[in-house]
Amino acid sequence: MTTSPRTFYLTTPIYYVNAVPHLGHAYTTLIADTMCRYRRLAGDRVHFLTGTDEHGDKIAQAAAAAGETPQAYADRISAVFRETWRRLGIGNDDFIRTTEPRHKAVVQAVLQRLHDAGEVYFGEYGGHYCFGCERFYTEKELVDGKCPDHQTPPTFIKEQNYFFRMSRHQDWLVKHIAEHPDFIRPERYRNEVLAFLREPLEDLCISRPRSRLQWGIPLPFDENFVTYVWFDALINYVSALGGPGAERFDTFWPHAQHLIAKDILKPHGIYWPTMLKAAGLPLYRHLNVHGYWSLGGGKMSKSIGNVVEALALADKYGHDAFRYFLMREMTFGLDANFSEEALVTRFNADLANDLGNLVARATTLIVNFGDPTGDTREALPSEDQQVHMAFAEATHALGLAMEEFAFQRALAAIWEFIGTVNRYIDARAPWVLAKDPTKDKRLQSVLVTLADALCCLGIVLDPFLPTAAARIRQAVGHTAPPRLEAAVLGRLHAIPKVEKLSGLFPRIDAKGEQRSGATMLKGASDQEGAGRSSRISIEEFRRVDLRVAEVVAAEKVEKSKRLLKVTVRLGAESRTLVAGIAEHYDPASLVGRKVVVVANLEPATLMGVESDGMILAASEGNTLTLIVLDRDLPAGAKVK
Ligand code: MSP
Repeated sequence: MTTSPRTFYLTTPIYYVNAVPHLGHAYTTLIADTMCRYRRLAGDRVHFLTGTDEHGDKIAQAAAAAGETPQAYADRISAVFRETWRRLGIGNDDFIRTTEPRHKAVVQAVLQRLHDAGEVYFGEYGGHYCFGCERFYTEKELVDGKCPDHQTPPTFIKEQNYFFRMSRHQDWLVKHIAEHPDFIRPERYRNEVLAFLREPLEDLCISRPRSRLQWGIPLPFDENFVTYVWFDALINYVSALGGPGAERFDTFWPHAQHLIAKDILKPHGIYWPTMLKAAGLPLYRHLNVHGYWSLGGGKMSKSIGNVVEALALADKYGHDAFRYFLMREMTFGLDANFSEEALVTRFNADLANDLGNLVARATTLIVNFGDPTGDTREALPSEDQQVHMAFAEATHALGLAMEEFAFQRALAAIWEFIGTVNRYIDARAPWVLAKDPTKDKRLQSVLVTLADALCCLGIVLDPFLPTAAARIRQAVGHTAPPRLEAAVLGRLHAIPKVEKLSGLFPRIDAKGEQRSGATMLKGASDQEGAGRSSRISIEEFRRVDLRVAEVVAAEKVEKSKRLLKVTVRLGAESRTLVAGIAEHYDPASLVGRKVVVVANLEPATLMGVESDGMILAASEGNTLTLIVLDRDLPAGAKVK
């Protein structure tokens, strides 16, 4: 992983204001935010741009339908986008609106440049125009004579307009894409653009007569026309930097990367690079293209009627969880299906169980057994080195995945490490080490490794789960701003001040409700070393009939080293049980004692003796102890 400072400029599409933000918009913007957070974590100089696309027929029509002027309408919806991103914790550096004077000025300057360079001509064109897409279609592009996106027949329009000589840019563009395999990525979209370019490239109509459309940026060289909305919109990526010649432009433009979905591949993969080249501007570095979310499938998802409602689930389940789900569920570049059920499943498995449990277990162990004054400086045992190596591997894989926007792989790498630490706790069993005073040094070094691992997780998870990661860092006393270079396991030599952190992601039950303030630990919240258990509902637990029972007789089961035949009294009833406690209890010592039994188990026959119930005991290593009462209760009393 490189830590040298780099510059990174990332853009999302600017979204049309004819609809409110939905799941698709949120996905692009959230992954852009995650990527920028990751780059900042790595120490890079980052500029993150998003915004709204506010001109054109579509917006004019939506405004008319709402009974508003286009500007008032655009102001209102653009503010909804801005507010939604704020609510979702998006940390964009700039928000561009195409109706802003700073944008209009750059659009007009670029158009003038193109005009002066002979890249624009005036001509007549007759073509199949789709009002939904706001563009002309060639005969070939139509499917059964209809727009492939809107499935509506286009309108044949013949009019005079200005044209950009896009056709002359075909050859170098093909060569550029061939020579820069990651110019458009993943590869499937590069191939798609190359496939478009196997057909002759036509010139692009870049104006609309004012007689037909008012709502646009006037051409600087002919006031009777406004700029075609795509020509206007694409320029936002440079206008937001102040345009060619501005300091911000010089700093960031050479590092530009765009992020879009596959729906707008052609304008970004073909129009935009040819416009840049024709205007004498450098091309962007990478076009990163993701797939489409669809809805459906799963029981709970029936309640999600549309993509707008899907976004509402961010509030229901938490913004971290929503962000996590989107990134974990979609392979970058491919389509994915969204369902509430899948979100809940991932939440419980990955966030509540794997991560939440690890944090609860580890912080509890450190607080209960950690000695901040203890000396832990000793040669690292190989099991601890394995944890260090696992983290080094995870961060390496994370770095490679993030280079390619492969969020799913990035998270899988971090979760691999979470699994390693969970297994490390099980194997090292600090609660057992704690019982042996000669193992104190070993215990402290295990706890340091755990504190270190949590701190590193709190850093590398920052881009993906910003709120939870901050809570983890806080719990282990890491107050400095998170930096990737600080996420190196093996730096800590003493136990830091740690606070217990349970319920980071309270489990969601089948009704979609979170257990409030729940702890992820089994039984009492502080039970040391409690494992990750598979959950049962309170109803399931209530079905278990636990009773106080008095032992009235006990004897060894013939030919068995382990088993005792125990007769107990449950109120008026008496039962015979078989218990595997012969190596720990002398039969005679049991008579008269009160124990706890499971009274409603199916009877089973062990070594020829029928057992009607089970005596509860706890065991760890070689120690076994019966569960007894610390106050007397009559036999038969219910245990709740
Ligand atoms: N205004 C143009 C873009 C101009 S960029 C110079 C536009 N706007 S849009 O509002 O339609 O947004 C399209 C983008 O929204 C997609 O490229 C993608 O980023 C996001 N998505 C919209 N629906 C989506 C899905 N169903 N799934 C994933 N992303 C989707 O096009």
